[in-house]
Amino acid sequence: MSYMALKHAHMMFALISIVLFMLRAWIAVPSPARIKSKVLKVLPHIIDTLLLILGVWLAVMMKYNPMGNSPWLAAKIIGLVLYIIVGTIAIKRGKTARQRLIATLAAIVIFAYIYGAAVTKSPLSWLYL
Ligand code: HEM
Repeated sequence: MSYMALKHAHMMFALISIVLFMLRAWIAVPSPARIKSKVLKVLPHIIDTLLLILGVWLAVMMKYNPMGNSPWLAAKIIGLVLYIIVGTIAIKRGKTARQRLIATLAAIVIFAYIYGAAVTKSPLSWLYL
């Protein structure tokens, strides 16, 4: 597959991931039990897995090494793990609506950080511009 096709597919899955997350948070912040749709439960895992696979594929293709020439990539991978952990607090594990709301906002900020790290190729993310 061409670099441009891979990169745009990766970016499209990133966009779908945050849209689905915001939709689920909208429903789940008042009460996680409100998420009844099977699609909304399963689809995000599929999208996030594809996002990750395409990211790793791109990194291998471009010889970006998170432990070597590409600290921004290490920042993205750590960011993705945090996005997933904080995301589950937002839509499932948070005990109160307030906790879930704060986790929702934090997950969106983490996503914006990852996006900035991708665009600027710096762990400073948007601060690098
Ligand atoms: C929420 C998670 C992620 C978001 C929002 C995201 C976003 C992006 C965006 C917007 C770009 C295009 C940057 C540009 O050229 O302007 C990109 C490229 C890329 N991403 Fe991700 N990404 C995410 C996760 C990952 C992960 C987990 C990996 C690796 C394991 C990864 C590896 C890459 C690579 C290698 C590129 C190609 C950079 C280039 O050659 O220009 N991404 N990503």
